Amino acid sequence: MSQILHVTINGLQKKLSIEPDELLLDVLRRDGYKGVKRGCKEGACGTCTILLNGKAVKSCIMLAAQAEGGEIITIEGIGTREKPHPIQQAFVDEGVVQCGYCIPGMILAAKNLLDNNPNPTEGEIKFALDGNLCRCTGYSGQIKAVLAAAEAIRGEK
Ligand code: FES
Ligand code: FES
Repeated sequence: MSQILHVTINGLQKKLSIEPDELLLDVLRRDGYKGVKRGCKEGACGTCTILLNGKAVKSCIMLAAQAEGGEIITIEGIGTREKPHPIQQAFVDEGVVQCGYCIPGMILAAKNLLDNNPNPTEGEIKFALDGNLCRCTGYSGQIKAVLAAAEAIRGEK
């Protein structure tokens, strides 16, 4: 039997009709948040990463019902084409966006890191992005991009 999920998504309060066994990933995509990408659907690739109550989570391995009352941020909520988030800008500047499928999840994982640690080491960045796979570019560019974004957010660039 369907139920109502109360969540805030990118600052908007929502009441969404869900099935008890629906994944958060599928509910978000159905509601139009197509930046939440469906990849492995088993918690291994990170393409479905969102922020839930300020923490990066993989939306393919949790039920939508578990997000009840929560605050969700998807990639659609952190920047626009005209006004990208500094992490988005740094990814573009470093040229690490190819097919782009991994990028929303990676940027949200990076945001989770920088929100909690504005001056991370390379090792901390590697650890934070460890659950986000990219099939196109390798990983050194993303690490440079996160370091550059951290500098920009700290106002040093
Ligand atoms: S689709 Fe969620 S981790 Fe791969
Ligand atoms: S840019 Fe294609 S998977 Fe990362």
